[in-house]
Amino acid sequence: MVENLRLARRMLQIKESGTLKAMSKAKELQAKGIKVIQLDVGEPDFPTPINIIKSAEKAMENGFTHYTPSAGILELREAIANKLRGENGLNVNKDNIIVTPGSKQAIFYAIMALIDEGDEVIIPTPAWPSYMEIVSLAGGRVREIPSYFKLNIEGIKEAINDRTKLIIINSPNNPTGYVMNRNEIKALAEIAMDSKIFVLSDEIYEKLIYEGEHISIGSIPGMEEITLTVNGFSKTYAMTGWRLGYIAAPKPIASAINKLQQHSASCAASFVQMAGIEALNPNTPVKPMIEEFKRRRDYICSALEKLSWFKIHKPNGAFYIFPDISSSGMNSDEFCDMLLEKLAISTTPGSIFGGYNKNIRISYANSMENLKEAVLRIEKLIG
Ligand SMILES: Cc1ncc(COP(=O)(O)O)c(C=O)c1O
Repeated sequence: MVENLRLARRMLQIKESGTLKAMSKAKELQAKGIKVIQLDVGEPDFPTPINIIKSAEKAMENGFTHYTPSAGILELREAIANKLRGENGLNVNKDNIIVTPGSKQAIFYAIMALIDEGDEVIIPTPAWPSYMEIVSLAGGRVREIPSYFKLNIEGIKEAINDRTKLIIINSPNNPTGYVMNRNEIKALAEIAMDSKIFVLSDEIYEKLIYEGEHISIGSIPGMEEITLTVNGFSKTYAMTGWRLGYIAAPKPIASAINKLQQHSASCAASFVQMAGIEALNPNTPVKPMIEEFKRRRDYICSALEKLSWFKIHKPNGAFYIFPDISSSGMNSDEFCDMLLEKLAISTTPGSIFGGYNKNIRISYANSMENLKEAVLRIEKLIG
């Protein structure tokens, strides 16, 4: 770089995405002709349902290819508000909804809209690393609260002080697949209401639940004023590449988020928003995908449980498992490197999800055939 010309100081705060880094290592080997089994990716390996594709095609053919209102097209915002009222028990209408290009963008806006320099944000871990990075970018301070397969209510209470502004939760969880139960959600809601702290609830894996129920914290009476609910189309409808998500927030926050979008992305792609309306149609076939994920979860858990290196905590949701691999004598980074170099299996180290050095994340969003092949390779190595 030219002398005295530097990146903005805020760039010193953020790290590269660990999940995307793991994926790019795998792609490098694939380019050399090595058949890498990718158990790193956080995206369904299913095609987007055809009714959704057709509706986007139709929208494009009909010339629906221009800017839309920044908050999103009215019909989609109404359809989302309907869904959130009917399925999630949220007291919202279209004015609370902002449609975004992916739910990650919604999370980015929410944190930018709420967090000032020095504000503290509580994040139960293991957690998706982008939360931590975006909070740092906003100048906030992350307070990670270890919550391994159980929400650490006491830890959260102890971490609260007069700078605490926000708690970020994610159920079902990436990377563990853990689904929070009603008691945990209620206890957290009480803390947030008593201490007047916002809650950002990332519900992107909501439909991928195999046992138990999904509870939106925003449905607890009194929470509507302080809850921001994020969801999207990537996981439920296998639409990762379409980039479509949304946030439901109290009106003053929704309007701040809308301003951020006006001055950055402008809007989500117009024909993609039309496809979003179609996706929310109850006839969209999502059940077969969910049933297949359950079958794969059962298989991978029971196959790896038999191997001495893996301590499995069978999760109720999402499409990840987060085994403890410490009995191998390796830490999470060493273990992932070993799997990639020796067996051409790509996974994600637990270290990036809040310092879980004893765990790795395995995504079973891959075919049964590939999962079986991966297990075979590991069995051969362990002997
Ligand atoms: C917990 C969590 N939230 C949000 C996202 C982002 O999803 P989207 O594709 O809607 O931006 C992901 C994607 O991996 C995720 O795991």
